Amino acid sequence: MTTDNTYLGKIIRVDSGTVEVEVSNDIPSAAPIINGRLYKIGQIGTFVKMPIGNITIYGIVSSVSNTPSKADEIQLRYNFGSRFLSVQLVGEKIGDDDFEKGIGTYPTINDEVHLVIEKDLFDIYGKRDEGSIEIGKHSSSENLSVYADIHKLVLRHSAILGSTGSGKSNTTVSILKAILTDYVGSRVILVDPHGEYASAFPDAKIFKINDATNPLFIPFWLMSFDELAYFLVGAKPSDDQKIDYRMFRDLVTNFKKENNVLVSGTVDRNYITADSPIPFSARKLWWEMNWWLNASFTTTKKDEQTKGTAVIENDGDFENLIGAKFTSHLSTPSTSSPHVSQNKEYFAYEKKILSRLKDSRFDFLFNPGNYKGVAGTKDLNDLLNEWIGSSSKLTILDLSGVPFEVLDITVGLITRFVYDSMFWGRSETYTGKKRPLLLAYEEAHTYLNKNDSSSYSKQAVEQVFKEGRKFGLGALIISQRPSEISETILAQVGTYVALRLTNSGDQSIVKASAPDNLNSLIDFLPALRTGEAIIVGEAIKIPSRVRIKLNNPRPTSDDPKLVEAWKTAHPENTENYKPVVTRIRQQKF
Ligand SMILES: Nc1ncnc2c1ncn2[C@@H]1O[C@H](COP(=O)(O)OP(=O)(O)O)[C@@H](O)[C@H]1O
Ligand SMILES: [Mg+2]
Repeated sequence: MTTDNTYLGKIIRVDSGTVEVEVSNDIPSAAPIINGRLYKIGQIGTFVKMPIGNITIYGIVSSVSNTPSKADEIQLRYNFGSRFLSVQLVGEKIGDDDFEKGIGTYPTINDEVHLVIEKDLFDIYGKRDEGSIEIGKHSSSENLSVYADIHKLVLRHSAILGSTGSGKSNTTVSILKAILTDYVGSRVILVDPHGEYASAFPDAKIFKINDATNPLFIPFWLMSFDELAYFLVGAKPSDDQKIDYRMFRDLVTNFKKENNVLVSGTVDRNYITADSPIPFSARKLWWEMNWWLNASFTTTKKDEQTKGTAVIENDGDFENLIGAKFTSHLSTPSTSSPHVSQNKEYFAYEKKILSRLKDSRFDFLFNPGNYKGVAGTKDLNDLLNEWIGSSSKLTILDLSGVPFEVLDITVGLITRFVYDSMFWGRSETYTGKKRPLLLAYEEAHTYLNKNDSSSYSKQAVEQVFKEGRKFGLGALIISQRPSEISETILAQVGTYVALRLTNSGDQSIVKASAPDNLNSLIDFLPALRTGEAIIVGEAIKIPSRVRIKLNNPRPTSDDPKLVEAWKTAHPENTENYKPVVTRIRQQKF
């Protein structure tokens, strides 16, 4: 066997999962040519194999040295020119069976170690299993496709990590395209904070704020009461002791209870709380508060001041945020009718709500188009059908117009609503486990930050990572700052697609969280070429260095084209900036 032209050397040490190999001095060249191909001996990241009877064990070279790892062996073995390889064992192949991850039989001292040639790689990668997608080509061979197990990639969750410009967006497109092309029943929601993916997926359904065909709406009444109170008036759950907070809660509960006959079905009033996702009008909420604050009454007694005793001139127009008008009371405290309102509890809230509602940047939440739930309008079943029931399979939620201060709650609401739909749809034939769903989060570090203890989106996405699998919900996070991402999320990531990563803090996070204990491959991260990835984890047979193909059409980066812009001269014009200032004032395009 030692005459075999793939012979590399012998095992001199075996640890759990790692063996040390002494490269034979008889090897004529450090780079033999086998079947016309050049193989570099002992290159880090390359495979070696150890044939033991009819079992072949495969490993990856993780370090190369000219001394063995234990000093006492130096005297025994050291002779100039020897090389010692540390090899991490990754899997085995028994007879003609397929390659399997993990080791059942361990090699022992003096076992032979051989180079892995292209034919062996085909044995490992070549066969495409049922239920896989092609993720790219092996870095060492253009002809060698690398496949990922789609079930594990989706339902055990995955992450695409890499510095800016390393090729994350392109990789995302590659993976999603492979899924959408190969699986007619697949479905994906892509959360796209920079609006860069529309160009890459002409067939996708794209929702965007103010879009003429598919405007993005995320009805505010999906918020729990605490979220709503915090967002509208800055109140915290600890304000529960205060009368104004409790009255606000009652008001919201009543609005929801009044609106229980809905397009998707009637909801039993007894089950409705301030947290139930039941539609109501935020404008009417404001109008009601405004009414109680401003009303005049025929009586001074607070408990007799009701809608029936008000002295009203007109109702105003809640849709246009015009309050009701009352005959003004004559003096304070008034001696004759009409009398001033004693209902001042909403005093602090009314103005805050009004300014929120007047800010048109938040219209996609507080003025959610036709999503009113009542007959002749849209209800949440329509929202679900548009997002996850459409035949286009991929829905892109373009959040580029979402103001930064509400990005967190927006992603949180989207995630929680989709999660709830999978949880409560788990026994249906068309959703839940019967039709799994992938949620992909681009720029995940911006809203899944580990240091943000009050993040709604982080809470919701963590729930997907922890429990989603049971109801057919998987997640993919895409980020250039893995070190900023919630550890709960990273710990649940089954498959890592790690592109070039230059920041050492980020590298160590990947090292620490990536499965398979393949630190040697992870050490490559700063040196990878654009579009090249180390893929490790559950969805892949063997940790691999993979080239991802460049897709066309591409995602568009929203980076300004600086050189072109600065090459053009821009003449002065006193008319400039007028519309800009008006937009700043109106907060509206
Ligand atoms: N697989 C690839 N092969 C060749 N070039 C690539 C590849 N992936 C990305 N690129 C190039 O790198 C640029 C940045 O890629 P992109 O996917 O936007 O990176 P990221 O999302 O990590 O910032 C692309 O515009 C493209 O020119
Ligand atoms: Mg990108």
